[in-house]
Amino acid sequence: MCGIVGYIGKKLAIPVLIEGLKRLEYRGYDSAGLAVLEDNDLFIEKTKGKVQDLENLVKSTKHSGTAGIAHTRWATHGAPNRVNAHPHTDCSGDVTVVHNGIIENHRSLKKYLEDRGHHFKSDTDTEVLAHLIEENYNGSLFETLSTALAEVEGTYGLAVISKKEPDRIFAAKKGSPLLIGKGKDEYFIASDVAAILRYTNEIIYLEDGEIAELTAKEFNVMSLDMKKVSKKVQQISWNLEMIEKDGFEHFMLKEIFEQKTSLRNTLRGRLNYDEGTARLDGLLENIEQLKNASRIIITACGTSWHSALIGEYIIEELAGIPVEVEYASEFRYRGPIINKGDIVFVISQSGETADTLGALKETKRKGGTVLGICNVVGSTIARESDAGVYIHAGPEIGVASTKAFTSQVLVLTMIALMIGRMKNLTLENGRKIVKALDDIPDLVEGILNRNSEIENIAKKLSKHNNALYLGRGYNFPVALEGALKLKEISYLHAEGYPAAEMKHGPIALIDKNMPVIVIATKDVIYEKIMSNISEIRARNGTILSVVTSGDEQIKELSDIVFEVPETLTFLSPVINVIPLQLLAYHVAVIRGCNVDQPRNLAKSVTVE
Ligand code: G6P
Repeated sequence: MCGIVGYIGKKLAIPVLIEGLKRLEYRGYDSAGLAVLEDNDLFIEKTKGKVQDLENLVKSTKHSGTAGIAHTRWATHGAPNRVNAHPHTDCSGDVTVVHNGIIENHRSLKKYLEDRGHHFKSDTDTEVLAHLIEENYNGSLFETLSTALAEVEGTYGLAVISKKEPDRIFAAKKGSPLLIGKGKDEYFIASDVAAILRYTNEIIYLEDGEIAELTAKEFNVMSLDMKKVSKKVQQISWNLEMIEKDGFEHFMLKEIFEQKTSLRNTLRGRLNYDEGTARLDGLLENIEQLKNASRIIITACGTSWHSALIGEYIIEELAGIPVEVEYASEFRYRGPIINKGDIVFVISQSGETADTLGALKETKRKGGTVLGICNVVGSTIARESDAGVYIHAGPEIGVASTKAFTSQVLVLTMIALMIGRMKNLTLENGRKIVKALDDIPDLVEGILNRNSEIENIAKKLSKHNNALYLGRGYNFPVALEGALKLKEISYLHAEGYPAAEMKHGPIALIDKNMPVIVIATKDVIYEKIMSNISEIRARNGTILSVVTSGDEQIKELSDIVFEVPETLTFLSPVINVIPLQLLAYHVAVIRGCNVDQPRNLAKSVTVE
């Protein structure tokens, strides 16, 4: 969603802020703005559009300020235009604020402030913060922030600067990600570490209810009631190269290709062939609890929810524990029943998705155990879970999630294997799974080497306006994921469906203009999916099948076939999704879509 960057130090602030915003643009982008303190004044510039538009506006200006804040916006309240772009100022123009999150009581606060003579310029919820600070100002912005925020309901990650205190910048967090970067005689504020990785990897994560004051030399963190909080500086292992395109045209393509290494990183040090099991250090203390779990609930959003569905099948098959999968947004609000003996897994690439975090909190409030599966180290969900596993996929910048998905599936498989081996799974079967897991990165690499085959298929698919994705068993979630990828970045209408359910509705859509992508690799229900393909054939649908290498039967029924290597059935999603990711990518490129920044979408959805 919206991204925040702040800087105080010796460097010129504007280039640091623009560079940071560019790194954050993947989170959401419909307008951007910045504010810089200079000679006891504030220079503010903002615009509708991309960070590049903002950069064009400021590049000819000569501003020597070395402290400032900046924002890239994904509109929640108020249209995406210049007036609604952040930063927002108070009436006097002394205080300026950038904010990520939603101020839920902004209407009542606005009314109160208007009654007290404040004039509002924008339609945003954020602007109330600037006026609230103005209204409460007592000579110390740090203290004022605590008083003002006590009146605020909702979520915020925010940064504030004021002409009245030009040697410092301020930050506050509740429910939206925010961190401090420590440099040499300089400090940064960012909603995402990617914004400041170029300058530092020493990070101080803010917790909910904390406010911070930064000068070029030091930082101070307080609770909302102004009690000092001591904070640890953490070193993170990500570096700048990991968040650059590395010669690829798009981050998405880079990340698809990275799967040959990201999957190895996910598995590294975690497989034990001799014992036919996996070792996940983050879950060591929960092993007994997992073994004795009466039920596992997995909750997530988007692509992570698709990997959860695969996890459901794998855990039930290997570990014999009933699993339920829920959209986090539904789970958190419907009063879920969490019994003693239940374990709730939350899956989130970013570790910041508001609904997933809400589901985590709801579980904890009910006394349940939450285990996190996250990619971003130090993210809120990772920190707030009772324990968990990192997927180690490395930074994912492309809005459409790719490498996180496959790594999540491998982690879920390792969890299922680990529990299964403590229960009824035999050593022999355990070893088979370890071997198959170990082989996955090479198989993925083999498919990636056939990228041009997919590009050719994409040329045909890109001429259509709709697509249906079908799969059964483990390949049903793959169908959902394939369809999601296509619609996210190419704006083609695509639906994923369990192949057998097709005859209860979607079959009505099938004619020669409806391409149907069937994921039909060999498994126990292979014969059944073949019948489904015949049903499509009989209605003149165009069939593109993903099949196990050497399959002649489905080949005969299909218009186009893409062969993939054989693996264990429950690992086939990791293989089968690769051609679908590439297919979506190439269709989007052919159709001239902005692959890394698809319209209306954001990488990290930090609002409900
Ligand atoms: C957004 C992204 C998706 C992602 C989903 C869940 O919708 O565009 O790619 O799958 O959020 O994100 P998470 O970070 O929680 O996995």
